[in-house]
Amino acid sequence: GPLEEMSIPLFFAWFLLSSVQDKVGSTSLDFLKTLQTLEAFKKHMSDFKAEKEVDLEQYFEAKGVLHCTTKFCNYGKAEGAQEYAQKQAVKDFYGSTSELSLSALFVTPRTVGARVSLTEEQLLLWPADAEKEAESVPAAASLPLGSRAHITLGCAEGVEPVQTGLDLLEILALQQEGQQGELVEEMALGSLTFYGKGRWLLSLREPICAPACFSGYYT
Ligand code: A2P
Repeated sequence: GPLEEMSIPLFFAWFLLSSVQDKVGSTSLDFLKTLQTLEAFKKHMSDFKAEKEVDLEQYFEAKGVLHCTTKFCNYGKAEGAQEYAQKQAVKDFYGSTSELSLSALFVTPRTVGARVSLTEEQLLLWPADAEKEAESVPAAASLPLGSRAHITLGCAEGVEPVQTGLDLLEILALQQEGQQGELVEEMALGSLTFYGKGRWLLSLREPICAPACFSGYYT
């Protein structure tokens, strides 16, 4: 009935605890600041539709409280939302805290995000079709479960946050096809690889450990 429908949130996610929100936010800003000073980045600046300088800090807009979406439900209207909300694991883990491992940061002309490497336990909350639903990245269907897991750190003007996971899948699909990318340099945070078309991936030397609470987002 209508009451049941109302109890399904806009989306389910792990929400980073406030203590770590600032830390991840500032690591992301540091990365953007450093990236735009690199000659290799300047060389490919036109990918960002900018003729001269692009200030990445201005280019990307933050999107509120940092989180890793498991299932976009649209209050029950999205495909598979009801089934997801009723999963035993969703009920069991609702309100519980676990540690997310942020293993990479990535930038494209559309989004900036962090890749999240999920544990076996966290994968119990991952929808089986999350990767297959990415219609714009057909090759994503054959990527391992959880490949799409990410935190949106910012979006370019007019870009919806759903794009961040698609951008990540695009990079992972290239890797799976055997495209190594161009190793650009070893930064303090890790190694930076360029995949063409403005796609940059920084594999973190030390993954960032971010405690997060699994919950639903309403309003
Ligand atoms: P993300 O998880 O990359 O941040 P919106 O504000 O557009 O309604 O989206 C709410 C949240 O749900 C955002 O976190 C967004 O992206 C995610 N999201 C929106 N649409 C989808 C979708 N179709 N599939 C997966 N996640 C989505």
